[in-house]
Amino acid sequence: MSNLFYQSRQPRPFLDRGEGIYLYDVDGKRYIDGSSGAMVSNIGHSNARVLAAMRAQMDKATFGYRLHFRTEPSEALAAKTASLMPAGIDRVFFVSGGSEAVESATKLARQYAVTQGQHSRWKVISRYPAYHGCTLGALALTGYDPLTVPFAPMMREMPKIAAPTCYLDRDTLSDEDRGIRYAELLRAEIEAQGPETVLAFIMEPVGGASTGALVAPDSYYGRIREICDEYGVLLIYDEVMTGAGRTGKFLAAEHWGITPDIVALSKGFAAGYAPLGAMVARNDIVEAVLNAGGFQHGFTYAGNPLACAAGLAVIEEIEREDLTGNAARMGAVLKARLAGLMDRYPFIGDVRGKGLLLAFELVADRETMDPLPKALNAHSRLVDLAYERGLIIYSRRTRGGVEGDHFLVAPPLIITEPQIEELMAILTDALDVFAAEAGLAVAA
Ligand SMILES: Cc1ncc(COP(=O)(O)O)c(C=O)c1O
Repeated sequence: MSNLFYQSRQPRPFLDRGEGIYLYDVDGKRYIDGSSGAMVSNIGHSNARVLAAMRAQMDKATFGYRLHFRTEPSEALAAKTASLMPAGIDRVFFVSGGSEAVESATKLARQYAVTQGQHSRWKVISRYPAYHGCTLGALALTGYDPLTVPFAPMMREMPKIAAPTCYLDRDTLSDEDRGIRYAELLRAEIEAQGPETVLAFIMEPVGGASTGALVAPDSYYGRIREICDEYGVLLIYDEVMTGAGRTGKFLAAEHWGITPDIVALSKGFAAGYAPLGAMVARNDIVEAVLNAGGFQHGFTYAGNPLACAAGLAVIEEIEREDLTGNAARMGAVLKARLAGLMDRYPFIGDVRGKGLLLAFELVADRETMDPLPKALNAHSRLVDLAYERGLIIYSRRTRGGVEGDHFLVAPPLIITEPQIEELMAILTDALDVFAAEAGLAVAA
């Protein structure tokens, strides 16, 4: 028995080392990191320049409490981060992870509303399904039943609207009209809640773990921004998974020219080299809160110089190697290869995503999009078959965590075309075995 425990009993081998897109266990077995861990290791493993920058910082100081000192790495990373945001979102608050970034964003929004005399605004509307983190505040915004239901009595429940799962719709609307229809759910919810009570709306611009790289029609994004403006509701983009180049732009928001009021970042921001996240907010929001006495919030490890040195070196690497561009280029190649699997496997119902945040979903019937029988446990079985063969992919239940199976394929942004072929060969092999086991037909 190990003293260490995780969410569930899932024995995995000991990790020895990482190199580029590969991880090696202590027995020397090699794995393609086809999900960058949990969509974290965007620049690949053991990047020499990032490690050198971290060592250099370690030789100076690994910690300096933010109330006692300013540090060069945190100032430099804040300036660099601000320069990569849409104009006007330029004030950076560091945290150590995604849940903390989301909590910070909602709390800053609330304190801002109070400074504006809008004491009645406290509700943060989110989408279902959605994943925004596991601390109780972030969990109240999360829509994924297995994670939320046990804690329901302990949380202040927040209103939800349906995520724009257009690929499941069988109406006759155009994609653009569907986008508007889903966006208008926000207006209806604000009206139902009472506009004077609604503080913010939070969304993942491209869905992550809970929806499997869900992308809304283009019309959705602009309409959501308009509705937020109309009602004075702050728009928070949770870019914890999508940020730092993953979707082919530094922020996914750039695909639609949207300027959110607050952005949450983590994961690829320090790409697994240090626990780091950030909330980036509109200057006037921050100024109002600081002028009113300060942000009543903060974490001990926030902005520590070692994590910030890592984050700065990671962003420099993303820029130096044009990894955002590579995510767009290799994402197109990988998405086409995944879509090609639909010819062979009738039980792949959808392939979606942007850049190198891609996913495929398994179904019983492509016409109805009915999920596979729950008992097949496809989401865990296919992951295990791929893992045995040396490929790591990331799966979740699609429909609010209740049923359905999707698989995120999101390798490090440094991946090359030959490496995509390597990944696809293992994935195809795993799908063949899965189909045979599950008695699912495969085309010749
Ligand atoms: C969109 C999104 N928000 C927030 C989080 C929470 O991040 P963390 O696990 O670092 O707390 C995640 C993690 O998967 C995420 O994907």
